[in-house]
Amino acid sequence: MTPLSERAHAKINLYLHVVGKRADGYHLLDSLAVFAGAHDRLEAAGPGPAPSLSLEGRFGAALLGEDPSGNLVTRAVRALLDQEDGPALRLIKSLPIASGIGGGSADAAAALRLLLALRPDRDPGRDRLHAIATGLGADVPVCLEQKPARMRGVGEILDPAPVLPPVFMVLVNCGRAVSTPAVFRARAAGFTPEAVLPPRWLDARAMAADLAALRNDLEEPAIALCPEIRVVLDAIAAEPGCLLARMSGSGATCFGLFATLAEAERAAGALSRPGWWVWGGPLAPGAGDPQMPVAATAL
Ligand code: C5P
Repeated sequence: MTPLSERAHAKINLYLHVVGKRADGYHLLDSLAVFAGAHDRLEAAGPGPAPSLSLEGRFGAALLGEDPSGNLVTRAVRALLDQEDGPALRLIKSLPIASGIGGGSADAAAALRLLLALRPDRDPGRDRLHAIATGLGADVPVCLEQKPARMRGVGEILDPAPVLPPVFMVLVNCGRAVSTPAVFRARAAGFTPEAVLPPRWLDARAMAADLAALRNDLEEPAIALCPEIRVVLDAIAAEPGCLLARMSGSGATCFGLFATLAEAERAAGALSRPGWWVWGGPLAPGAGDPQMPVAATAL
């Protein structure tokens, strides 16, 4: 059996407004999510006698200490397959964990896509799959689609994003894991209205100008918990060609937007510091385009 592989791309929140709160404590959001070229990779050797997961890559060791039953990939496998049959999965973890770029959610979504490619007989249908994804985490549905989307509700209501211009990014993480519930708890009371977005942006400069008028409501509380985020944001903003510097999700990863690949790559080189994870490049290449076949590709 040919091994199958799925890319789990980093999800970046270009803005994130907390617009309300549900009775169960979850926050209602309005956010524009895009996917950067940076990614984890999940591989499956094929159907096996029992599901298993091995961890590799720069950040694989960081997950080894965690309870494996709580791992989102393991939970995604359980949600779709019986306990007693399942593939041997290998996760090459290149994205920092607990870092606001949806790495764990992207891995879980990749697991769902991979399992469906391996076991089309277990396809629960679009609506049920969406519900399973939502049950795994608020960011998993958007990661399942893996294309730019406007997220509402707790993240499970997805609408098409404005048409994006060519745009390039740097991602910088200072090496400190930040707890999402802790950031939400540290947030000052009050809500931000939903954003008004145009149907398309003609160039990166216009896009960044509109985004600059919006905000990430979690940036301030995350900086209170992890002041190094401010250092990272200032360093990104000082790079030549940087159109916007902002934190993604609940942090600590921050992004910079650039109009050219050369500027983004140069900035990534310049931002390298001991202990920092830095990436620079384009958005994810068409991952999840509706016209593409099931995203799993043979290695
Ligand atoms: O859904 P997920 O497991 O990613 O969420 C982690 C935690 O972040 C939740 O338990 C909740 O405390 C907080 N959260 C929230 N509102 C959201 C998403 C997450 O309050 N929309």
